[in-house]
Amino acid sequence: MTAARKIIIDTDPGQDDALALLLALASPELDVLGITAVAGNVPLALTEKNARKICELAGKPGTKVFAGAIRPLVRDLVTAEHVHGRTGLDGPDLPEPEMPLQDGHAVDFIIDTLMAHGEGEITLCPLGPLTNIALALNREPRIATRIREIVLMGGGFFEGGNVTPTAEFNIYVDPHAADVVLRSGVPVVMMPLDVTHKALTTRARIAAIRALDTKVGAACAELLEFFERFDEEKYGTDGGPLHDPCVIAYLLKPELFTGRSCNVTVETGSELTMGMTVIDWWRVTDRPENALVMRDIDDDGFFTLLTERLARL
Ligand code: RIB
Ligand code: CA
Repeated sequence: MTAARKIIIDTDPGQDDALALLLALASPELDVLGITAVAGNVPLALTEKNARKICELAGKPGTKVFAGAIRPLVRDLVTAEHVHGRTGLDGPDLPEPEMPLQDGHAVDFIIDTLMAHGEGEITLCPLGPLTNIALALNREPRIATRIREIVLMGGGFFEGGNVTPTAEFNIYVDPHAADVVLRSGVPVVMMPLDVTHKALTTRARIAAIRALDTKVGAACAELLEFFERFDEEKYGTDGGPLHDPCVIAYLLKPELFTGRSCNVTVETGSELTMGMTVIDWWRVTDRPENALVMRDIDDDGFFTLLTERLARL
């Protein structure tokens, strides 16, 4: 078996972030060097605590969790309690974490870890606003050549936006950070709404997770049943899009996804389209192809993988 892939997950839990963390922690192909929390779905004080709650739910209290940026680079923080609930993890009643939050700032952990490893050894997996990643790139530009890939959930084009008509939440919250990442020259794999909206938590899929008949299975079913209610109402679908686990599933089974290399440029000027990811899917410009943008998913295969891995916890 090849060596486990070293990753750092940057996250703003969030029910879908929680499923992504559980999928990663259940998968021996991945070596989670650390989890860095960022303000996003809910404020930082909750996202860092929620990350620790999920590590304990996974039975991995030794996982290193760091707190990062408390607000975006430039804009005021926008949160999403209306989607994720006041705690950010509404649904199950998860105990207060006992595992410690690591000393030191998440951005220092990202920089120090990358500088302590060789080129191309570590993959960054942002699941929320890109503030921590941009701060690290700005503070220590040398890390750009050391990052193997940034596999992120964010953006949207054919599906439009979910927080404004044109912008997806993670990019909208910190468009300036997304601009830094997309201009960095680091290889980016992007999971936009165009693909995550095809990964729906249908009743049958949640039932299969609940049928695991484990503490993790029950908690995940409750997380998803709470999380999906907002999008079911909005989109009129059976189930809601399961965004963040697409990032981890790509690391485990990239063949589940199809997309193409494109230019992605972020709007940081217009208030009307702030945070819009302008994806040159048809390559009508000569802008550089700076991201592998996913648009399709084998959704049955995705949920089979997710459910099988959750069964291991
Ligand atoms: O737009 C969906 C993204 O915003 C997901 O990462 C969700 O957790 C929220 O952060
Ligand atoms: Ca998220």
